[in-house]
Amino acid sequence: MTQPHTTTNAGAPVASDAHSQSVGNDGSIALVDHYLVEKLAQFNRERVPERVVHAKGGGAFGTFEVTHDVSAYTRAAVFQPGTTTETLLRFSSVAGEQGSPDTWRDPRGFALKFYTSEGNYDLVGNNTPVFFIRDGIKFPDFIRSQKRLPGSGLRDHTMQWDFWTLSPESAHQVTWLMGDRGLPSSWRHMDGFGSHTYQWTNAAGERFWVKYHFETRQGNETLTQAQADQIAGEDADFHRRDLHAAIEGGDFPQWDLFVQVMPYEDAKDYRFNPFDLTKVWPKGDYPLIPVGVLTLNRNPENFFAQIEQATFAPSNFVPGIGPSPDKMLQARIFSYADAHRYRVGTNHADLPVNAPRNERHSYSKEGSMRYSFTPAHSPVYAPNSLGGAHADPAAAGDAGNWANDGEMVRAAATLHPEDDDFGQAGTLVREVMDDAARDRLVSNIVGHVSQVERPELFERIFAYWSNVDADLGARVAAGVREITPAAREGASV
Ligand code: HEM
Repeated sequence: MTQPHTTTNAGAPVASDAHSQSVGNDGSIALVDHYLVEKLAQFNRERVPERVVHAKGGGAFGTFEVTHDVSAYTRAAVFQPGTTTETLLRFSSVAGEQGSPDTWRDPRGFALKFYTSEGNYDLVGNNTPVFFIRDGIKFPDFIRSQKRLPGSGLRDHTMQWDFWTLSPESAHQVTWLMGDRGLPSSWRHMDGFGSHTYQWTNAAGERFWVKYHFETRQGNETLTQAQADQIAGEDADFHRRDLHAAIEGGDFPQWDLFVQVMPYEDAKDYRFNPFDLTKVWPKGDYPLIPVGVLTLNRNPENFFAQIEQATFAPSNFVPGIGPSPDKMLQARIFSYADAHRYRVGTNHADLPVNAPRNERHSYSKEGSMRYSFTPAHSPVYAPNSLGGAHADPAAAGDAGNWANDGEMVRAAATLHPEDDDFGQAGTLVREVMDDAARDRLVSNIVGHVSQVERPELFERIFAYWSNVDADLGARVAAGVREITPAAREGASV
């Protein structure tokens, strides 16, 4: 095979990749060496900003195959019997930066893009069915408390516990995080959840509320804190490497998708707010209904082009699927597309990894780095009498459709009888965990809390865990007091 010659970005042949042009062998290098300038300037611009959260991750392409008929609940083409759809799934941790260890305790992202025949559908979920807060206005504060101190640039357990204990709705997610599931052994060995409640609409226009559950066929496996700490030192890319190696070796990971379906009318009188992201719907109330199987079978060929520049947005819905009254979800519907315009660029949806596989007839045009365009005679405005694309009234209602009324307020959602902050966290501790899992939970919390540096927080932290479960609270307090002298002094806020 003949080896090609290097060229400049403009395609002209290059004389050397080893020597800059200089005035004599020992003189200054010349600005006129435009190839040197191009190389250095291009290098300076190789990065796009990392994601403000979920910066560290990895992913792969695959397929989603429908195995069960759920057409009674949604008309979305992607979920119709016999349909197979190309997908991209990106896993991530939340608070760590690019290059941070994959095995730090954190929720894990589970962001799925379905390239459907009706446009891209993005389900941007996590490996947990709940979240720390229930109103998006708190999200920047929450994330800042999990990231780094402004002065020292250090992660800080004090900020984390300050925020969590002042935001008691976090209890369910923090219990999950401090338990075994906070340290999955690999991305393949964890479940994924849509987490929010979404709306499905069937062909007859009937509406349903749904929650998505992806159950791993590899089984849920987790690491102990000691194992995770050791791996973090040995291989920061442990999870990225595991996924890549499995797919490279033909061991394709799979997840079964199930949904919980709530009839539209049930929501109003359900025992707790079904749109509260800090709650799960007990399976006794709404059982799991099988839908299909997700398989990852193709590694990216280029990490930057296909994973770093991939953009997943909860606003990417398709006919038959829409949002719900969940205030977190509604904040996210603004946030992601905005982040993408900043992080990747106005025309990020033109990139091959983000472009839909079906034909697009959007009137959006131009902007930085636009390279797709329509034929010269095609209209650039709507409505037009030139035969250009026109909107389809049949799509109405799929942007989420529910009865709304009331004054503009800043207030919590209307209370349902069993709305609270701690109940489901307590159930998780008492009914889902066994004795050994509870012991590890206590040990994880004690280890984490003992690094809190403001003694006046300890009593508030102990009260938080006592509200989850009295016995757990007592064990956490005893454990922290045993190893942390400041906690013994009993300072309270
Ligand atoms: C990434 C905002 C809550 C899962 C992101 C990004 C932003 C963001 C700005 C970076 C996007 C990018 O640059 O591509 C928010 C806001 C939230 C919120 C404002 C609350 C209102 C959640 C929740 C979940 C979640 C509840 C899961 C249930 C993810 C995932 C990613 C992500 C998985 C990474 C997506 C990827 O792999 O590219 N979030 N987020 N976020 N978020 Fe959220």
